[in-house]
Amino acid sequence: MRKDSGFLMTVLTLLVVSGAQAKYGGKGRGFDHDVPAIFSFGDSTTDPGNNQFLENPGAAFLANIAPYGQTFFDRPTGRFSDGRLWVDLLAQGLGLPVTAAYRDPATKDYTKGVNFASGGSGHFETTKTSLAAIFGGRTVTNIREQLEQFRRVKSTLIGSLGEKKAELLLDRSLYVISSGANDIAWGYLLNTTMQQVYSPDVYTTRIINATYDTVLALYAEGAKKFIINGQNPIGCTPANVGRNGGTCFEPANALCRLVNSKLPDLQQRLTRFCPGVFVVYTDNYKFLEGIVKTGSAYGFTKGSLACCGTGPYNGDVGGCGAFDANGAPVYNLCSKETLGEYLYWDYAHFTEKVNNLQTGFYINGREFVKPFNVSTLARC
Ligand SMILES: *[C@@H]1O[C@H](CO)[C@@H](O)[C@H](O)[C@H]1NC(C)=O
Ligand SMILES: *[C@@H]1O[C@H](CO)[C@@H](O)[C@H](O)[C@H]1NC(C)=O
Ligand SMILES: *[C@@H]1O[C@H](CO)[C@@H](O)[C@H](O)[C@H]1NC(C)=O
Repeated sequence: MRKDSGFLMTVLTLLVVSGAQAKYGGKGRGFDHDVPAIFSFGDSTTDPGNNQFLENPGAAFLANIAPYGQTFFDRPTGRFSDGRLWVDLLAQGLGLPVTAAYRDPATKDYTKGVNFASGGSGHFETTKTSLAAIFGGRTVTNIREQLEQFRRVKSTLIGSLGEKKAELLLDRSLYVISSGANDIAWGYLLNTTMQQVYSPDVYTTRIINATYDTVLALYAEGAKKFIINGQNPIGCTPANVGRNGGTCFEPANALCRLVNSKLPDLQQRLTRFCPGVFVVYTDNYKFLEGIVKTGSAYGFTKGSLACCGTGPYNGDVGGCGAFDANGAPVYNLCSKETLGEYLYWDYAHFTEKVNNLQTGFYINGREFVKPFNVSTLARC
């Protein structure tokens, strides 16, 4: 891996040999690793149901109604998909349970990690205030607040495990950061003042810098292994295509590409600045855009049409699961037999099939995760 990480690798190897493996080691999909837990930060791409526990006046976005969750859980869990999210599949790929929502009162054990993500959230306070202005004061938990929650979890772990064991657990764990799309969509593209103040280049650098600051804040708490999730082509979601006359909304895609183009430099800055840190980033943009725009791969044939929802391309925000005054469903829902042809489950979120495919790329692939894959990261 990196030349200057040799010493640290040796130290960690010694820790592993001297007993940590017995305590924390696990077996992933066909490989051994030493990752006890996953701590996850971000938006709806990774929210396992935190938003439904936001009260007074509630969350800007929810997914806690049927038919969300129908594929794996057989019930809505608050995840924005028909089944598991990529971070859940990643956890399972490492032999851990699906990720647990921090805000769920039933989540009490943090020793396998916990998930702080909140659908609709972003890095910037202005994204949160924009959403509140649009959605009648309703809210999200942004990254800064998710970091505060993580610090409380760390204290709890120290209380239950003692300082040494808690620190070893945090040192060996994976940290997922999957954010920025809402800063682009709601915080920038819907705010003309913001566009006058910041050029696309400067605004996307601010997203990169905010990600850098998030990694540094976690590093200060003892985190070492990071997965930074790149931007998807959000201009091609059913919501955007539906509003844009049937084609992808390119200004949104351009911003996503700009963020992704800055990930290699972010990765290098972080590993240079933080001794012992391992950062990988993912970039599925081309893969997903290719399927949307040029038809089929892996059996996907529906492009930007969502399986579940209302309106053009089933792309109305909040359409999936909507019902009328008599409680009768008013949304379209594809059959379970054809679900495998859909990339998008609802107006903006992927089906479990897509999530599973992506996670496979992240764990064992080469093309969409850089500079090395998660099975390698898990063994760092
Ligand atoms: C739009 O952006 C400006 C400039 O950053 C900010 O001051 C303002 O609060 C934003 N508007 C909303 C509705 O959030
Ligand atoms: C991003 O961070 C770099 C390094 O600290 C700094 O030089 C640059 O001015 C920042 N850019 C923006 C737009 O915040
Ligand atoms: C990715 O993972 C596989 C399986 O563990 C491994 O054999 C391969 O060398 C890895 N590729 C890269 C580029 O790290």
